[in-house]
Amino acid sequence: MTETVDISVDFAGLKLANPVFVASGTCGYADELADFTDLNQLGGFITKSITLKPRKGNATPRIVETDSGMLNAIGLANIGLDAFIQEKLSILEKLTCAVFVSVAGETIDDYVAVVQRLATEQAIAGFELNISCPNVAKGGISFGTEPAQVTEITSAVKKAAGEKVLMVKLSPCVTDISVIARAAVEGGADALSLINTFTAMVIDIETRKPVLANRTGGLSGPAIKPVAVYLVNKVYNEVTPLLASGKRQGGGIPILGIGGIRTASDAIEFIIAGASAIAVGTANFIEPGCAVKIIEGIKKYCVRKEIKSIKELIGSLEQGQIDSP
Ligand SMILES: Cc1cc2nc3c(=O)[nH]c(=O)nc-3n(C[C@H](O)[C@H](O)[C@H](O)COP(=O)(O)O)c2cc1C
Repeated sequence: MTETVDISVDFAGLKLANPVFVASGTCGYADELADFTDLNQLGGFITKSITLKPRKGNATPRIVETDSGMLNAIGLANIGLDAFIQEKLSILEKLTCAVFVSVAGETIDDYVAVVQRLATEQAIAGFELNISCPNVAKGGISFGTEPAQVTEITSAVKKAAGEKVLMVKLSPCVTDISVIARAAVEGGADALSLINTFTAMVIDIETRKPVLANRTGGLSGPAIKPVAVYLVNKVYNEVTPLLASGKRQGGGIPILGIGGIRTASDAIEFIIAGASAIAVGTANFIEPGCAVKIIEGIKKYCVRKEIKSIKELIGSLEQGQIDSP
C-alpha cells in the first residue's frame, strides 16, 4: 500500500528518492554509520564540514547535554581536504543517495580552494557552505551574519562549484534570517539549509565556570525545533515568492529544513512549513537508524492523508487564525 505513494522530491535539479538527509557533523563521512543503518535508503547525505587543512578542534569538554538537547563546541575538528580525498571519497562514491560535502574555512580563498579541488568528483552531488558554525574563532559564523559577505562568499564559491549544486547553510543567530537568505540567493545559491545551532552556554554552579572549555557551544536537538520550523516558514514565505516570480520560475529556491528532527511528524512539520527536504542531526546520536524510520513514517502519513505525492505537502501550511487585540 505505502509503495504507491510518491515521496521523491526535486531538490535544486537533483531527483531525490525521498526528502530525508542526515545533517553535517552527525554522521562523519559515512563509514562511521555504515554498520548501524543503510545510508543508501536516504535521499541525501551531508559530510562533516571539511577545511583546507586538518583541524584538531577545540579543547575538551566540548559536548554537554541539556534539557531536550545538547551543546557542542567541536570547533570543526576534521581530517582536512587531502586526507578526505585519499581516505573518504571512495567510501562516498559507493553511496547511491545524493552526497553533499560540507565546506568550512577561515577565508573565502579557503572555501574556494576546497570546492575547486572537488568540483569534478562524480561522487559529489553538491556542496553545503557552512557559514554558520558558532564554535570557531576565525571564519565560521562571522561569514554568515553580514549580508554583503554572504553574497561575496556565495558567489566566489558558486564559480568554483561548476555544475554542482551549491547549498548555503544559515545561522539562526541573526536579526533577520530572510535578509541573509536573500543575500545567499543573490550570490547564486541553488538551495538553502537552515538552521545551524544556536550559540549557548551551560554553567557549573559549583565552580561558576562554563562547562565547555570553549565557554560557549551550539545548541541542537528537540529544544530548537519550534524555532527552526518558524524560521523555515519565514524564509519560505519571504524569500521563495520573490524568486518564483523572478529568474527561478516555477518554485523558487529549495529549503533543507534542519533542527531537532527525531520523528516523521517532526519532518512533516518542516515540509508543511516550506522545506523541500529535511535533515536529521542530533537524533542520529541517540538512534542511528532514525532517519530511515522517518522515511517510512512519511509514507504512512501520506497514505493516511490520501496524499499522492509529497510535493503537494511542501509549503502547504494553512493560514491559521490571527485574532485582533
Ligand atoms: C556534534 C555536532 C557536530 C556538528 N558539526 C557540524 C559541522 O561540522 N558542520 C555543520 O554545518 N553543522 C554541524 N552541526 C550542526 C548540525 O548539522 C545541525 O545543523 C544542528 O545540529 C541542528 O540540527 P539538530 O537539532 O537535528 O541536531 C553539528 C551538530 C552537532 C550536534
